[in-house]
Amino acid sequence: MAHILHLDSSPRGDRSISRTLTKEFITDWKATYPKDTVTYRDLGHYPVPAVDEPWIAASFTPAESRTTELAVAIKTSDELIDEFLAADHYVFGVPMFNFSIPSTLKAYIDQILRVNRTFVVNNDGYEGLAKDKKMLIITARGGTFQNGTPFAQYDFQEPYLRTAFSFIGITDITFIHADNLAAGDEVRQQSLTAARAAIEKVVATW
Ligand SMILES: Cc1cc2nc3c(=O)[nH]c(=O)nc-3n(C[C@H](O)[C@H](O)[C@H](O)COP(=O)(O)O)c2cc1C
Repeated sequence: MAHILHLDSSPRGDRSISRTLTKEFITDWKATYPKDTVTYRDLGHYPVPAVDEPWIAASFTPAESRTTELAVAIKTSDELIDEFLAADHYVFGVPMFNFSIPSTLKAYIDQILRVNRTFVVNNDGYEGLAKDKKMLIITARGGTFQNGTPFAQYDFQEPYLRTAFSFIGITDITFIHADNLAAGDEVRQQSLTAARAAIEKVVATW
């Protein structure tokens, strides 16, 4: 039995393609594996705070030495990390914004990539603590950044997310890109059909 963290980061509601597709994935998944459980986090509508100076001080202070002020400053991060580490699988919906990710998702990543919680520093360098996890990231993009296309070098979304999550130990990451969404109805429909086929495949093989 697996536990999934389903997270959306689009500020849009029903019109959001990334939300629509993560929802479809979760619906298919639950129908296929009814015993699996899901926690939902909506960063697009309920953003988490940016890290601030007390947060930084608290993150480098051992838990037993923190003042009440520092414990309060790091509480949200602790809760987000507990929720994150409790999952075996992750299903994230991520719009491309300005070649990268929405700032709400960046704020979340800043909250959960934390020394001695999701990674440690040891003699070999850094070691991620989120082991034996699988991640599916469904992106929505107005254009396309596939290899061999003119804007391939502008993709700071997939490389960044791969780097950030592999840093904490998650190396099994699948991307499904619903791209070319602004390229006209026909191309958009083709892209959505391909994304849905890729979703079905992940549900069947993950
Ligand atoms: C602020 C903003 C920045 C965007 N930047 C890009 C971009 O750099 N590249 C791109 O292909 N599409 C870009 N788009 C288009 C979105 O990626 C596209 O509309 C996508 O469907 C949004 O995700 P959603 O449908 O889940 O809300 C941008 C849209 C917005 C609102």
